[in-house]
Amino acid sequence: MPQKIVKSKIIFEGEIVETIGEVSTEEYERWGANENLKVVGKPVSRIDGYDKVSGSAVYTFDKILQRMVYARTLRSPLPHAKIKRIDISKALKVNGILDVITFQNTEDIDWYWNSSKLFDPHLRYQGDEIACAAAETAELAEQALKLIEVDYDELPFAVNTKKALESDPEKLTGFKKPDLFTYDRGDFSKGISESDESVEDTFTTPVVIHNPTEVHCSTVAWDGGKLTVWDSTQAIFSVRNAVADSLKININDVRVIKKYMGGGFGSKLEAGKYTVMAALLARRLGRPVKIYLDRREMNLAVGNRPDSHQTLKVWGKRDGTITAMSYKSFGAVGAYPQGAAANWPFRTMYKCPNIKVEDQNVFINAGRARAFRAPGHVQGVFALDSIIDDFAYKIGMDPIDLRLKNYAEVDQVFNVPYTSKLLKEAYSAGAQAINWDLRNKIPGSGNGVIKRGIGMASQIWWGGGGPPAHAMLKLERGGYLTVISGTQDIGTGTYTILAQVAAEILEIPMEKIEVILGDTGVGPYAPSSGGSQTIASVAPAVRDASEKMKSKLISAAAAIMEIPEDKIKYNNGEIESIEDPAKKLSIADILKELREESLLMNGSREANPDGYTTNSFGAQFADVSVDTETGKITVNKIAAAHDIGRPMNQKTLENQFHGGILQGLSYALMEERVIDESTGQVVNLNMHDYKIPTVKDVPKIEIIIVSKSDDLVNNVGAKGIGEPAIIPTAGAIANAVYNAIGVRIKSLPITPDKVLNAIYKFN
Ligand code: MOS
Repeated sequence: MPQKIVKSKIIFEGEIVETIGEVSTEEYERWGANENLKVVGKPVSRIDGYDKVSGSAVYTFDKILQRMVYARTLRSPLPHAKIKRIDISKALKVNGILDVITFQNTEDIDWYWNSSKLFDPHLRYQGDEIACAAAETAELAEQALKLIEVDYDELPFAVNTKKALESDPEKLTGFKKPDLFTYDRGDFSKGISESDESVEDTFTTPVVIHNPTEVHCSTVAWDGGKLTVWDSTQAIFSVRNAVADSLKININDVRVIKKYMGGGFGSKLEAGKYTVMAALLARRLGRPVKIYLDRREMNLAVGNRPDSHQTLKVWGKRDGTITAMSYKSFGAVGAYPQGAAANWPFRTMYKCPNIKVEDQNVFINAGRARAFRAPGHVQGVFALDSIIDDFAYKIGMDPIDLRLKNYAEVDQVFNVPYTSKLLKEAYSAGAQAINWDLRNKIPGSGNGVIKRGIGMASQIWWGGGGPPAHAMLKLERGGYLTVISGTQDIGTGTYTILAQVAAEILEIPMEKIEVILGDTGVGPYAPSSGGSQTIASVAPAVRDASEKMKSKLISAAAAIMEIPEDKIKYNNGEIESIEDPAKKLSIADILKELREESLLMNGSREANPDGYTTNSFGAQFADVSVDTETGKITVNKIAAAHDIGRPMNQKTLENQFHGGILQGLSYALMEERVIDESTGQVVNLNMHDYKIPTVKDVPKIEIIIVSKSDDLVNNVGAKGIGEPAIIPTAGAIANAVYNAIGVRIKSLPITPDKVLNAIYKFN
């Protein structure tokens, strides 16, 4: 039987998830290097590129329906309060207002998450939902919101993570204090007794905001009892389930569609309340509803990368052998339960037999943390690679040599080998690209006002994908192929890469291939666009379906030409007789002869290999200039060398790395959500006050892929790249700044004031 239902494992953003689902049991021959291939791995332009750049692509935000109305949301202005009284009567008198929902008229509507209701009169952060108004225009809806009268019981709040650590979380949010996460390995005190030297320091990172280009939005419409939701989401099936559960309607009465999307970075990995509010208003009004969040709401209420306060200590021998490491951290999850841990890289990146970890999630009265492009790893690597450099300089060792000395040959947490690990290759390729020998052997030893420095940091992530992930193929008259899957293209190029895989195997030109993703009403289940797992999960399913379609075409040709199947071969998109190559049929010929409108085929991802961990690896190197008079840091160059399995498409790969590196640079030097502690108000709620890079901040970027294929991970050899791209950037920049000025800046973002304070010790 070619498909089987089995147990398999997948690591999704640090969580080990056991899956039970249908997998393919076919073992396909590995492709070898990209040089052997015709389409996969080539710099193929996006198949949706023209539609996007011409403006004809209809993004979720662009979706307009007849008789559609607009919904806007009233959010808590206070960090912590209970609603004493709410009166919507004045709001309902606004000309053009159609409906207002609050906790008072939606008591029967659940929120799928945390067994709560859609609206909760207990407001836990500035931004918590109070009401939602629908009107003929968005402006009228906003006008109505201003007329809603709310009396609050103000409650004590905490927005400072360190102070909140000492407070009673139940008083702040009603949620119990999260358990302390602990992890131990080996014999810690023995490790310390074996050491000659140690370094210890505390590193802090700020809360930062995802800020995808496209704001969170949904357009919803009912047709009888059937609901269609156009949603800007990274996970159509999660949205479908959340909406159906909240409204208590059948799963198959909800169809979620996401065609084009302007980014998400993790903030669109979960369903949002706004989607359910829109569906509810649309049902009450009998009209389609569009709901969106503006930039202010985006900065408050769709998640963030939690902060971290990480204290690390490293003990080792003078020859560089690390003998023990300890890690203690806490971070703010916001006002609702979520994870903020940043300790994964610490546990797994460098070889160390004796380690101790403590990590505490802290509730504060601010917007909730959410998965954000390599959750935990970006914070964790900044701290880990900073302290590793400190140890290297302390014992007078080249930082790369120290990393090589403590190279983890096997996964230390699960004690199993990696499907592949080419980190050594990444170190040497990156070092060469950045001119590693030009770094200051003694940090800060350069002359002049502008000091130059070079630093690096390592990357580890999962992104090997896994089942369940399915794809369907439909081959039609004329030899046109449609690839259908229930994953979505968050903007990374999934449409294009899946078409490339089918084109490679079936030898059908790219122009004849259409890919339909992001529609729960059409596609078989495939995973969310998260965890850098999309291609590693879905591309193998497309390969499976394509290989099986190929067999089907051979059997069709055998029937048509009356030649036994074993005397037929597939050659360059044609099916020919081995004995008489003149006897052949094109795919179009077969479809014509068949008197069938289409040939169908399903394919599935195979199970993950037993006894291995799949990780991607890499290292980024930064070359920076620091102006010691102004504190301004210029990143001159980032060299990124990575083992990410097979590069599936050189163009989309470079897009991902450029985006990740810029977002990492931004994290290192600019971004920070700032809250006024006395009022609990976020003070930088727009793109003017909340800094991100402009084109003038973009460094030279060199990308070197040291891998060719990871033959154990899946049948196409690919691992994800979206998250690896951002992981080491901030750590590399921080180490380069240290190398330039000889003083370590331990808190991100590394802003000019911190640089000047570090150099001149103003305070
Ligand atoms: Mo997730 S943070 O969207 O990979």
